[in-house]
Amino acid sequence: MKVLAIESSCDETSVAVVEDGRIVHSNVIASQIDTHKKYGGVVPEIASRQHVEAINTVLKEGLDEAGVSLDDIDVVSATKGPGLIGALLVGLSAGKTIALSKDKPFVGVNHIIGHVCANYISFKDLEPPFIGLIISGGHTYLIEVNDYVDFTLHGRTVDDAVGEAFDKVARSLGLGYPGGPIIDKLAREGKETIEFPRVMIKEDNYNFSFSGLKTAVLNYLNSTKLRGDEIVVEDVCKSFQEAVVDVLIEKTFRLAKEKKLDKIVLCGGVSANSRIREAFENKGEDENIKIYYPELKLCTDNAAMIASAAYYLYKSGNVDEKNFANPNLGL
Ligand code: KG4
Ligand code: ZN
Repeated sequence: MKVLAIESSCDETSVAVVEDGRIVHSNVIASQIDTHKKYGGVVPEIASRQHVEAINTVLKEGLDEAGVSLDDIDVVSATKGPGLIGALLVGLSAGKTIALSKDKPFVGVNHIIGHVCANYISFKDLEPPFIGLIISGGHTYLIEVNDYVDFTLHGRTVDDAVGEAFDKVARSLGLGYPGGPIIDKLAREGKETIEFPRVMIKEDNYNFSFSGLKTAVLNYLNSTKLRGDEIVVEDVCKSFQEAVVDVLIEKTFRLAKEKKLDKIVLCGGVSANSRIREAFENKGEDENIKIYYPELKLCTDNAAMIASAAYYLYKSGNVDEKNFANPNLGL
């Protein structure tokens, strides 16, 4: 079964054709990062407009690269949320229009679940149940994946998402956007010389908080500057990153042990982080828990992961309406 998917929830316009949820025939990604860089973050209105400009070209490339036409597609899908409303509407309208005009079923996909499904592409044998940790620029969720379409939410951030904390800390260090990959790289040269808080690590729940950590970094930078002392950027990056790693590890492994699950699946943009990957793998070896994370291209936003999620949704009977506005709406 070939699924065509469109992802446009934030600043990537992406189109993919994926077979049976796992075999990628194409996964074209047009990133807007260079545009948003100069504003230090994603500007929603600009994002929507750029999606409109990019969608037809990306769609054509996605089909051409897969060597298929719209007639060869069995199911059409698009991200239906969460995300920027104007951005989402572009992909969703394109998807529904194709489904309507070609008389194909349409499946709307939750972006967060899409991130989890990226792992089905990277690991052909991976099957639920497992613990899922979704860490991206907009989301931080700790879930139990009971089945392909059945999830139990155990924890989430009560304030900033992990990626947001990386981006904001990078910004306060003057490091550019997106900050995650830059901090990742600089932290490799740094030492953990600053004690930042492990917020909520001891609390008897699976929630996270990253706003306090971000503020602690800001306070450290301000007070160090006031004292006229030197700021070692690499050490700040390393110390911040270790504080993030510690809380993610503690809560995720605690849940895996409570649920007696021996697989932890990381996903979302922040799962590209080399130290997070390494720390989870080390702890996984100690605890006999297998760690999964997608290949780099599938960590950040892409349509292949949406196609994978749509495949499993469709197989379990989920289809969505192809409506936009109703010209025949009566009273
Ligand atoms: O999944 P994604 O593309 O978008 C959302 O759905 O939010 O994630 C983007 C986020 C950004 O905050 C970016 O800084 C972060 O992922 N990121 C990283 C790394 N690569 C991307 N964070 C830490 N280390 C990285 N290597
Ligand atoms: Zn995402």
